[in-house]
Amino acid sequence: TDKQTTAADPVLVEFDNGIAFVTFNRPEKRNAMNPALNVRMMEVLDELEGDERCGVLVLRGAGSSWSAGMDLQQYFRDNDDKPRSATLKSRRQSGGWWQRLTYFEKPTIAMVNGWCFGGAFNPLVACDLAIAADEATFGLSEINWGILPGGNVTRAVAEVMNHRDSLYYIMTGEPFGGQKARDMGLVNESVPLEQLEERVRKLCASLLEKNPVTMKAAKDTFKRVRNMPWDLADDYIYAKLEQMLLLDKTRGRDEGLKQFLDDKTYRPGLGAYKK
Ligand code: ACO
Repeated sequence: TDKQTTAADPVLVEFDNGIAFVTFNRPEKRNAMNPALNVRMMEVLDELEGDERCGVLVLRGAGSSWSAGMDLQQYFRDNDDKPRSATLKSRRQSGGWWQRLTYFEKPTIAMVNGWCFGGAFNPLVACDLAIAADEATFGLSEINWGILPGGNVTRAVAEVMNHRDSLYYIMTGEPFGGQKARDMGLVNESVPLEQLEERVRKLCASLLEKNPVTMKAAKDTFKRVRNMPWDLADDYIYAKLEQMLLLDKTRGRDEGLKQFLDDKTYRPGLGAYKK
């Protein structure tokens, strides 16, 4: 239950076969993100960046929640009687790790096991991929308590959801489930909760087969070029591609071509070359 998994550390990290499971760990507060959690998340990302045990990062929540968004007590109520500088500091500090997660060195998957509200849309959208449980509940609940989706949540929503759906949920604050999140493109897939971890592990296995240098370049390039004019994008893509070839000491491209054209041991249309 929620209470049993409570521990002092607001973020748990466990490794399993190339996967780093990073867990929001404030189940008694439905994994609301407070300053301690956000500070620790930034440290964890720094630690995992160069850790060989982390080939893929999976972000999940302890207990019944993925994350209930910002800690409304610690980020809002507690700052109300303080100078404005306290609020400004909170904003800077809370957003740092989401930005870092967007361009993380390894592929990232949000494994949305439960509640996902407001501020939690930031790490959700920051992850490269997202798989939800049908039973998960999402919501842009800001309007329900009298604010608008701040901290770039509005921008994150606009990035992945269409105009009508975005405004509908920003304006109504209506909760929705995993299947609806999938239909709107907020997550890649939604599966029954009991199959969630298995589905995520299968996806991790596919990502782990790929050349990690290529993987990093491919995902970052997509995220960056979407907002560029076409001619800049074309140039940027080739710059990234050539940088990637220089960074890849394993010369994966040459190996991939050799295994297909010379050895005839695999078909690139159907799967990755053998690393
Ligand atoms: N901030 C601070 N505390 C929270 C938050 C939050 N975002 N979410 C839950 N908690 C706390 C509750 O205050 C409660 O604390 P207590 O046990 O000390 O009284 C505890 O977590 C459990 O919460 P319950 O409401 O009892 O849990 P329940 O499982 O019934 O409901 C739910 C879960 C639906 C997530 C509910 O807690 C909720 O609506 N939370 C707020 C969600 C939200 O709107 N988040 C803010 C989005 S806007 C933004 O992020 C800027």
